[in-house]
Amino acid sequence: MMTDTKDFISLADYTREELQALLDLAVRLKASRRAGRPEPRLVGKVLGCIFHKPSLRTRLSFEVAMRQLGGDSLYITDAEIGFGKRESVYDIGQVTSRFLDGIMIRTFDHAKVVELAQAAPSPVINGLTDPEHPCQVFSDLLTVTEQGLPLDGIKIAYLGDGNNLVHSWLTATMAFHFDFTFGGPEGFDPSPTFLDMARARAKGKIVISRDPAEAVRGAQVIYTDTWTSMGKEAEAEKRARVFPPFQVNRKLLALADPKAIVMHCLPAHRGQEITDEVMDGPQSVVFDQAENRLHGQKAILVRCLGAPTN
Ligand code: CP
Ligand code: NVA
Repeated sequence: MMTDTKDFISLADYTREELQALLDLAVRLKASRRAGRPEPRLVGKVLGCIFHKPSLRTRLSFEVAMRQLGGDSLYITDAEIGFGKRESVYDIGQVTSRFLDGIMIRTFDHAKVVELAQAAPSPVINGLTDPEHPCQVFSDLLTVTEQGLPLDGIKIAYLGDGNNLVHSWLTATMAFHFDFTFGGPEGFDPSPTFLDMARARAKGKIVISRDPAEAVRGAQVIYTDTWTSMGKEAEAEKRARVFPPFQVNRKLLALADPKAIVMHCLPAHRGQEITDEVMDGPQSVVFDQAENRLHGQKAILVRCLGAPTN
């Protein structure tokens, strides 16, 4: 079964088959880039990138991906468009679609992205909202497979805050059959909406643990992210007090599968959620993850902007 959405807003909207096809495409596009083979699949296409939060990887990966695929991109902030204030989301969707072949948006309110997608005939790609970061986890799936790990049957342990990354990992459990353990302090669990949805549809086990050692035991992938996501800065001090037991450090890593890989979507707060020793150590694949945003984005762009995906 293939999904008929024009957009890329949540991994929950995509079937396993379609995600696998996109991962295969990302692998081919990465190989082309490495071999110096041009992939002019989006010639003449322009992507508008709307940012209401800062970004390094998401901005670079989308803008560079468009250029490497023969197209172009525009960086648009709220200073230009006053999203929903200067103009309604509906009108922005209608107008931007008369100019742009696709819209990537990073913003706070997920509902606004859905509203934009409903208003815009052009495809809308979610470049991060408060509850989801599908492009990150999509390219992370590529990194996991590149490391020789199957997406079915492994255990992924996520340490820290139950944030947008965790929610997108939970949506991925509905497509691929890995076990997913979230280890974090009480009060910072992933939202029940995502937990319930994943538990209803996942084939693997989904576990919430208050014990970091138990969370990482036997895991092939150890994942972490900031304790304080964008928009939560006022809580940074409170969070810094409760999260330290869930820091990914050498002692904790020693309890995981000896060949476990360590992942972080970045930006990292070295010395908080991850130590330098682990982040710069032999099990870390964090910079491969960053690079794979480019190759993952290309597959998503080719799919959404309408070029052949073979
Ligand atoms: N991982 C990620 O999305 O990074 P940026 O916030 O820099 O885009
Ligand atoms: N959870 C983080 C991810 C940053 C890429 C945030 O939302 O700030």
